[in-house]
Amino acid sequence: MHAGSHPEKNHGIVNPAIYHASTVSYPTMKDFEEKRADPINNFLYGRHGTPTARDFQEAVATIEGGDRTVAVGSGLAAISVAMLAFVGTGDHVLVCDNAYGPTRRLCEDFLKRFGVETTYYDPLIGAGIEDLIRPNTNTIYVESPGSHTFEIQDIPAITDTVHKHGVKVVMDNTWSAGYYFKPFDHGVDVSVQAATKYYVAHSDAMLGTVTFMEKDTETVIDTARVLGNNAAPDDAYLGLRGMRTLSARLARHQKTGLQLAEWFKGRPEVDRVLHPALPDCPGHKIWQRDFTGSSGLFSVVFKKCSPAGMAALVDGLELFALGGSWGGFESLVLPTNATRTVTEWHDNGRCVRFHAGLEDPDDLIEDLAAGVKRLTAAG
Ligand SMILES: Cc1ncc(COP(=O)(O)O)c(C=O)c1O
Repeated sequence: MHAGSHPEKNHGIVNPAIYHASTVSYPTMKDFEEKRADPINNFLYGRHGTPTARDFQEAVATIEGGDRTVAVGSGLAAISVAMLAFVGTGDHVLVCDNAYGPTRRLCEDFLKRFGVETTYYDPLIGAGIEDLIRPNTNTIYVESPGSHTFEIQDIPAITDTVHKHGVKVVMDNTWSAGYYFKPFDHGVDVSVQAATKYYVAHSDAMLGTVTFMEKDTETVIDTARVLGNNAAPDDAYLGLRGMRTLSARLARHQKTGLQLAEWFKGRPEVDRVLHPALPDCPGHKIWQRDFTGSSGLFSVVFKKCSPAGMAALVDGLELFALGGSWGGFESLVLPTNATRTVTEWHDNGRCVRFHAGLEDPDDLIEDLAAGVKRLTAAG
């Protein structure tokens, strides 16, 4: 709520100023050298960050429980920085089979061009990950839960196992917003947020964060810099502003998400509901052990759903817009199109992801009830 807020340094004003900057000037060489040596306030050039981004970064590091955060232009940029910070030619990376699609593309297509090999693993593998470690395994990428199919991973078992082999653990922690899962308490080395989602929260800016412990500072910050990645000041401001209401919003997303998930569970048209807080979600017991809550994103697998039925459901919804993002104030719907390499997933076409927004839950259920009726009628 208050992290990154410094009214004492800002005329008593509780929110930071928005610094637009490219050129930064210095009165003397001595000032220039001092600024360069300062690990936090080295605003040498706009691309190296601004005081606005610094305050946002401080808030994110606080909520995630890491030492430092670097803010970049999107969640995907944050994932790229986190992966590129550690891997090099000849390395091998492990990636969960339920990872966000563009992350898969980053690893299996882009990193491949630089001689990095990717192996996917079953997100439910736990300590069994040891069998996949090779002498050149360098990094493991975990996303828990997966943002379409919602398997929860045994992060402590994975981090304990891979650390014995010197492997870095990078996590996409966006679903929990760093609020319901504390990655550094569970051995994660680098935590990524698509801050576009629950931090910005109003669907009007792209933003990402990479959070890490002191030991990885140089590697991560250098990588963000060499890639030319930084967060625009207006967007960093919006991310920080969103964080001020995060706890209240998440409580509402959680409550409504659970209400909708329970409602779907009681419907005869539904095969299963993939929501980590429900017992039949893969990894639910681990969620109970490691998480303190759930956010508003979950999926529903229908027993039967023709393409016409899917279109009838989605097109007629009044409060759920068809859209690829989540974490904002508004409810969203998106048919699942998951890709798998080493695990089974045969439910594309009958699986739909919902984001429970901040609307009245009874209105949302009414909208969904009409949608399910249309789906059934379309056959
Ligand atoms: C789980 C997850 N991680 C990362 C991202 C990427 O974030 P951005 O869209 O800000 O690049 C997304 C975006 O949808 C996501 O769902």
